[in-house]
Amino acid sequence: MELLTISEAAKLADVTTTTIRNYIRSDKLTVYEKANRHMVDRGEILSVFGLKRLAAVTPTTRVIAIANQKGGVGKTTTAVALAAVLARSSSVLAIDSDPQGNMTQAFGYDPDHQDRTLYSVYVDDLPISQAFIKIPPPPPNLTLLPSNLDLADLSRRVAGRVGLEGLLRNALDTVSENFQFVIIDCPPSLDMITINALVAATEIIVPVDMSVFSVRGMVKLMATLQEVRKVNPLLPPPKILPCRTEKTTVSQSIEEGLRNKFGSSVFRTPVPRGKDVPSAHAAKSPLPFHAPRSKTAQAYEAVAQEVLSG
Ligand SMILES: Nc1ncnc2c1ncn2[C@@H]1O[C@H](COP(=O)(O)OP(=O)(O)OP(=O)(O)O)[C@@H](O)[C@H]1O
Ligand SMILES: [Mg+2]
Repeated sequence: MELLTISEAAKLADVTTTTIRNYIRSDKLTVYEKANRHMVDRGEILSVFGLKRLAAVTPTTRVIAIANQKGGVGKTTTAVALAAVLARSSSVLAIDSDPQGNMTQAFGYDPDHQDRTLYSVYVDDLPISQAFIKIPPPPPNLTLLPSNLDLADLSRRVAGRVGLEGLLRNALDTVSENFQFVIIDCPPSLDMITINALVAATEIIVPVDMSVFSVRGMVKLMATLQEVRKVNPLLPPPKILPCRTEKTTVSQSIEEGLRNKFGSSVFRTPVPRGKDVPSAHAAKSPLPFHAPRSKTAQAYEAVAQEVLSG
């Protein structure tokens, strides 16, 4: 047996020391004591992380990042509605990955009163499951990982760490088998927070609002995805979701332009503008439960079906 320190093991397995510690905590790795230091067996590291790489090629958990660097396009509305609909039939982890804490609020929690958040997982090495909030039913299978303004400090606090862009993926590795879906609500930026979500993702949904600037913004996102594919090579092309559509000429021509340019990568069901969306946010209740018969809630039901079938 050849014993390695935690940091030597992390280098060998190409993961962070947090991941090695999480594996030890959850009894997936044996820990040995030598001269008051925690050590692990080199052979065990190779077999555990070698197998994990193989498993990553055929993931069973679908990790869906909802991303667009443009603000106010419908990311949070989409993430909350999809998580709520999918959690009726699947176990879902909804991750608020935005310092604005809008997803946390939409599920009825005050971001400013959360002391265990995604930030604690990134910066304080808190095991991810210790930041989970189990949302009371309905729906029956929904867990929230909340965020607040602390997260805005992330880049500064983790600067210089090795494997920076893989921190969320590593944290999820320890719990993903408990969830069929992980839905990540990204901030309106392409910074380290979004990069972590894109690296952890197995799929990406890009909500696009019906403004003339939206399609131009997609170009930058596509360039970022090219970069992300260097560390997440299996990431498929993003699915585009037309949001807040209207029966106006401008809205219809923008939607048509998206369908011409991106073809089957655009969801068949667009999400129309509806007054129930802001009222669901104000009521701190997911739209599919707040106004299930509204045309926007019905659209999100259909979008969820497209997600389930594809
Ligand atoms: N289909 C819709 N109909 C009407 N209003 C909508 C719809 N979708 C979103 N909105 C409203 O638009 C605003 C922005 O939506 P949302 O917060 O989901 O966007 P976002 O992309 O997450 O924003 P940010 O970039 O700030 O995170 C909110 O006030 C929301 O209520
Ligand atoms: Mg948002």
